[in-house]
Amino acid sequence: MTMLERTLSIIKPNAVERGLVGKILARFEDNHLKIVATKMVWLSRPKAMEFYAVHKERPFFKSLVDFMVSGPVVVSVLEGEDAVKRHRDVMGATDPGKAAPGTIRKDFGESIEKNASHGSDSLDNAKVEISHFFSGLELQDYARR
Ligand code: CMP
Repeated sequence: MTMLERTLSIIKPNAVERGLVGKILARFEDNHLKIVATKMVWLSRPKAMEFYAVHKERPFFKSLVDFMVSGPVVVSVLEGEDAVKRHRDVMGATDPGKAAPGTIRKDFGESIEKNASHGSDSLDNAKVEISHFFSGLELQDYARR
């Protein structure tokens, strides 16, 4: 049984700076991930720390936060069948060096930190992550389509 899900995408500062937003959003659309909300935001340090709080004890935390506030990002809500896993498959492994050919991180990632995109890792986390960036008003309702 497949499920209609929503997940959060962040196109990271390195990919925005390199002009890859359109190419990355096209990969989502080409893979049956519908963009139901999207915007460019420049994260504050407190917001980035809060978003990545699960990693706060990790040695890479400070560097990750520094990077994520270094320029604007593009946040999107993607919807589709099995969207959480589908999005992760389209992105590829966290480390671009280990990502499969044809994935976003393989093609556009520069390092494990500058890996071009972030995606929610579970449906529960997707709900929390979406609420970091989008209010109910910004999200279309399933029932209206
Ligand atoms: P992301 O999906 O944004 O979630 C956490 C991020 O931490 C991850 O992608 C990587 O960009 C970053 N990161 C940096 N170093 C590591 C590491 N050693 N292991 C996992 N993630 C890392």
